[in-house]
Amino acid sequence: MQRTLVKEVHEATAPRDAILLQGWVRTRRDAKAFSFIELNDGTCFKGIQVIADAKLPNYATEILRAHTGASIEVRGKLVASQGQGQKWEVVADSFTVLGEADATYPLQKKGHTLEFLREIAHLRPRSNLFGAVFRVRSRLAYAVHQFFQERNFLYVHTPIITASDCEGAGELFRVTTLDPSHPPMNEDGTIDFKQDFFAKKSYLTVSGQLEAEIFATALSNVYTFGPTFRAENSHTSRHASEFWMIEPEIAFCDLDGDMALAEEFVKHLIRDAKTHCAADLEFFGKFVDKDLLARLDFVLERPFQRCSYTEAIEILGKSGKTWEHPIAWGDNMQSEHERYLAEEHFKCPVTVYNYPRTLKPFYMRVNDDGKTVRAMDLLVPGIGEIIGGSQREERLDVLRENMAQHHLSEKEYWWYLDLRRYGTVPHSGFGLGFERMLMFVTGVANIRDVIPFARTPGTAEF
Ligand code: 4AD
Ligand code: MG
Repeated sequence: MQRTLVKEVHEATAPRDAILLQGWVRTRRDAKAFSFIELNDGTCFKGIQVIADAKLPNYATEILRAHTGASIEVRGKLVASQGQGQKWEVVADSFTVLGEADATYPLQKKGHTLEFLREIAHLRPRSNLFGAVFRVRSRLAYAVHQFFQERNFLYVHTPIITASDCEGAGELFRVTTLDPSHPPMNEDGTIDFKQDFFAKKSYLTVSGQLEAEIFATALSNVYTFGPTFRAENSHTSRHASEFWMIEPEIAFCDLDGDMALAEEFVKHLIRDAKTHCAADLEFFGKFVDKDLLARLDFVLERPFQRCSYTEAIEILGKSGKTWEHPIAWGDNMQSEHERYLAEEHFKCPVTVYNYPRTLKPFYMRVNDDGKTVRAMDLLVPGIGEIIGGSQREERLDVLRENMAQHHLSEKEYWWYLDLRRYGTVPHSGFGLGFERMLMFVTGVANIRDVIPFARTPGTAEF
C-alpha cells in the first residue's frame, strides 16, 4: 500500500477502508479501552489523530511504548472524526513503532526557548514553530521563481567563488588552499597569491549582481537566487554570515521601475504565503506575533511610501527623538532610524532613494547633483532594510571616475567596463534578503530562526 501524507489526509473528501500513515508521535493519551496518538509527518501544520484499540495484539508491548518523538507506521481506516476540531481520524488495524524515543527526547510537549531550540537545530524542524517556518521558507522559494518566471525573467546561476568584491565593503571570506603557516612569499614579503588555487586572491561572493548585469545586458531580464556570504562582525538579530539573496537585474529600466518591481515582488510573496501557508501563518499570528496578520493585510492594501534620503534626514531631525547614533546628512542610517521611518513616521513600508554618493558602492548611477546616487532601500516595520538596490552607472566615463574614487583597478574589472563599452543600456536591479523577508512574513524576530542552520560570527555548528 502506498503511504498517504497527513496533508493529503486533511484534503480527503470521503472515508477510506485502508490507509497507510507514517510519521512521528507528538502526544499519546491512554484511556481505558483506547489510546489516542497524534501523528505528525511535517507535511502540514496539523497532525492526525490515530485511535489504537487496547485489543490490538501488540498494544501493551508496542503501542504503550510509542512515546513522544517515536516514529510509527499505522495501517487502518480513515473515518469521520467524532471529536471536535478535526474532520478525519484514523482507526488503527495495525500499529508499528519503527524507531523508539525515550524520555531523554528533548522535544517533550512543553514550551522551549528559541535559544534552546537553536542548540538542537537537528531536532527543531520537528517542533510546531520550526515546521511552520520551514514550510513557509520552501513555499516562498517556489514563489520567488514563479514571480520572475511568469514575468519572463531568466534564472542565472552566478558564481559562489569570485575574485571581486561587489559591495566594496571588504566583508569577504577568503577562499584559499595555501598552507596558512607556510604561504609562498613574494620578494617584497607579501603572500604570492599567484600560487594559490585560482592563481589570484579569491573569495565567497557577497552578491551575484555584477555577473547578473552581464546576463541582463544580453538576455534583458534576469534574476539570481542563491547563497551569499559576508564576513561582517555584526551580532544582531538580522545579520547572518551566510544568507540567501534574490537579485533581479533589468535592462532598459530606471530606478522608478526598479522600486515598482520591488514593491510588486514583496506583495506577491506575502500574498502567496497567505494563500498557501494559511495554517502556518495562523499559528505565527497566535503564538509569535499577535499583530502579524493585520500587518500583512495592511501592507498588501496600501502602496508603499517613497521618500528621498534628504527628506528622510529632515524627518529624523524633526522627530524629537534622542538617537543612540545621532544622524546628519551624509551619515549611514542605523537600524533605529530605519525602523523609526517605517514604524512610527510612515507606519508602512517605505522606499528611501537617492543616497549620498559617498555611502554607496561604485556601480550606482550618479545623479545630476553629483552628490547623490540612484540607490534605493526598502525599509519595513519590525526589521528595517529588506531590499537594497539601484540604477547602475551605464556611462563609461562616469563609471571609470567612480572606480577611481573607490580605488578599484580597471584591469580587474575590465569585463564590467566592457559592458559599458559595447551596447551599454540603462539598467537597474535590487537584492532581497530572503531571510529578512521570511522574518517579515512569519513575525519571527531573529534571523537565526528562519534559516535551517545559522552561520553567525562564532557559530558554525551542524
Ligand atoms: O543592500 P545589499 O548589500 O545589496 C547588494 O548586495 C546589492 N548587490 C543588491 C543588488 O542591487 N543586486 O544587500 C541586499 C539585501 C539587504 O537589503 C538585506 O535584506 C540582505 O540583502 N542582507 C543580509 N541579510 C542577512 N544577513 C546579512 N548580513 C545581510 N546583508 C544584506
Ligand atoms: Mg544595503
